[in-house]
Amino acid sequence: MEALEAILKRKSVRSYKTAQISDKDLEAILEAGKSGPGGGAYHLSVIQKPELLKKINDATKQAMLAGGGFMKERASLPGYEPVYGAPTLILLSAADTNGIANASCSAENMLVAATALGLGSCYLMSVRGAFAGEGGAALLRECGVPEGNTVNCAVIAGYQDGEAFASSAPKVRTVNYVK
Ligand SMILES: Cc1cc2nc3c(=O)[nH]c(=O)nc-3n(C[C@H](O)[C@H](O)[C@H](O)COP(=O)(O)O)c2cc1C
Repeated sequence: MEALEAILKRKSVRSYKTAQISDKDLEAILEAGKSGPGGGAYHLSVIQKPELLKKINDATKQAMLAGGGFMKERASLPGYEPVYGAPTLILLSAADTNGIANASCSAENMLVAATALGLGSCYLMSVRGAFAGEGGAALLRECGVPEGNTVNCAVIAGYQDGEAFASSAPKVRTVNYVK
């Protein structure tokens, strides 16, 4: 798939089959993630262990429910699981103040790469809650996040299974030209 086609085709997928992605596809996604522009170091932690994915999912849901507002509303939807059953989750962490910006560049590259490989994917900011609360430090260690790093976001990937929780809000992206 051409790069521009993959960029335009990418969308957030929120329902996954249990089948794992291949190591070849995983490595291609990680290469894309490491190839983005970056001002400083960042780290990618690949989580494919089902028990740990469940732990991250459950801690995220708990944090969303405790947070109130949109996050609570979302987490209260019937059948809502914040990691959406994805078999692969990649945490993006860093120690410096450029971390979130770097993570976003890296994440978008991985989302587009996953799309080009025929996989579903989604950018997750919600998982940050799992690492912020009680038990967060132990979870960071369990995920292999380097000491001193903060989790800035995550990317999930897998084979799409339906359209549950598909994005429906209108995209407000405006442009102006000065020529
Ligand atoms: C900063 C940021 C945080 C996001 N966090 C989440 C999240 O925690 N959970 C989720 O399901 N989607 C999350 N998304 C995905 C957006 O909801 C999605 O990109 C948006 O609705 C547009 O839909 P599309 O990706 O299908 O084009 C996030 C996207 C961005 C850029």
